[in-house]
Amino acid sequence: MKRDLLRLADLGDGGIVDILDRSAFYARVRGKADHPRPLAGHAIALLFDKPSTRTRLSLEVATVELGGHPIIVTPDSTQMSRGEPTEDTARVLGRMVSAVTYRTNTTARFEGMARACRAPVLNALTDDAHPMQVLADLHTTREARGRLDGLRICWVGDASNVARSWIEAAGLLKLDMTLATPPAFAPPLPEVDEARARGARITVTTDAREAAKDADVLLTDVWVSMGQEAERDYRISALSPYRITQELVSLASPEVVVLHCLPAHRGEEIDADVLEGPRSFVWDAVESRLHTSKALLEWAALGPGFGPPPFAV
Ligand code: CP
Ligand code: NVA
Repeated sequence: MKRDLLRLADLGDGGIVDILDRSAFYARVRGKADHPRPLAGHAIALLFDKPSTRTRLSLEVATVELGGHPIIVTPDSTQMSRGEPTEDTARVLGRMVSAVTYRTNTTARFEGMARACRAPVLNALTDDAHPMQVLADLHTTREARGRLDGLRICWVGDASNVARSWIEAAGLLKLDMTLATPPAFAPPLPEVDEARARGARITVTTDAREAAKDADVLLTDVWVSMGQEAERDYRISALSPYRITQELVSLASPEVVVLHCLPAHRGEEIDADVLEGPRSFVWDAVESRLHTSKALLEWAALGPGFGPPPFAV
């Protein structure tokens, strides 16, 4: 079985911790002469249906530092722009590269790509999940606080794709997570129930101040995600009480780790003084994307099922 990753559970039992351990190793060896190059001779395709700064850069640099060759693929630079089906593009990629990372809108579109492609396909963001970001957030938190167990995780704002992958991580790691959202932007109940069934303690509330009390990690995301531009006015007005302010930070633990996946909108979901303040680990989390991308690319490209494509004769 090739190693596709739509969601964090696809890493398997204990998979998140294995990736985090390997990421910590890659953080230690960065820039050193003995940095491993396990992707030497491998090409990795980075396919984006949506814009990206951090995901693209971290995957591209990670591939280079692992000795591989990244190829950026966008619809407008390929025959996809002239109507070639995603599945046909997937078959071409699968004959060429050792792994594909894919940023797109729907889960169904991601799954279509993964089904048709011989190489592993990794989710680089869909409307429903952003596992790569959450791996980097977890790595950053573990580096800052020395552990994940027993920490109080607090999410404030829209229950976005990033929040939903955090809920999944909370289940897989049995974390304590509170989300403060307006009712219209609360997380899907089946995903909350699934995390609870796995052993997470998940609280969903409308009270941001109550949620932030004693928090060890304070998280948020943009109020208008890619593809939601038409809902902008409605979202901004419903979400305006759910901003991470200095006042909210002062209710949290003095050692709180503030995270935001970026791009940030200062004065909307987070105030500038928090983003640039002493409890912000936002820029460290950007660098973490590099370490976790290395661990993930190695897991996928060199995992079971990998091999050069056989020719049909
Ligand atoms: N955090 C994140 O995924 O950023 P980009 O959209 O810039 O890749
Ligand atoms: N929720 C945001 C995350 C950006 C990294 C979006 O999907 O646009």
